[in-house]
Amino acid sequence: MCRMLTFSVLVAVMLLSACQDKTPEATRQVQIASQQLVPGDSELAAIYQRSCRSCHTIAATGAPLSGDSVAWAPRMQRGMPAMIDSVINGAGGMPPLGMCMDCSEEQFEALIRFMAGG
Ligand code: HEC
Repeated sequence: MCRMLTFSVLVAVMLLSACQDKTPEATRQVQIASQQLVPGDSELAAIYQRSCRSCHTIAATGAPLSGDSVAWAPRMQRGMPAMIDSVINGAGGMPPLGMCMDCSEEQFEALIRFMAGG
């Protein structure tokens, strides 16, 4: 009886963890991959390094990680203008302008395309 109960608890725990989007290991891999990415354009790369990168390569910030197309897809479906609005006005844990006070809309768009994986 006791063994049966232990087994049921085990199954419940396994089912619960299967419900999570990603295992901690998968998240870690996506985070490591995101940290290898830098925009090809040097001016954009400089902006990225001092602003977006500090959050968009750290899963714990809650930001969709650079190159994580799965995380970006549902956001990108809302359209580029909505994405640019979110950066300018701030969204959730992201401060207004994403910590790039002098970025143009064109630069935000290029940075978003880069992070969303093209
Ligand atoms: C201080 C941390 C931080 C910085 C710096 C930052 N972001 Fe974010 N960003 C976030 C977080 C957290 C989210 C998720 C917000 C949410 O949906 O709750 C996010 C989400 C986004 C989104 C999706 C918004 C949406 O409505 O789905 C875009 C686009 C974005 N960031 C672009 C940028 C760009 C471009 C930069 C650099 C110029 C940048 N971010 C800098 C933390 C940051």
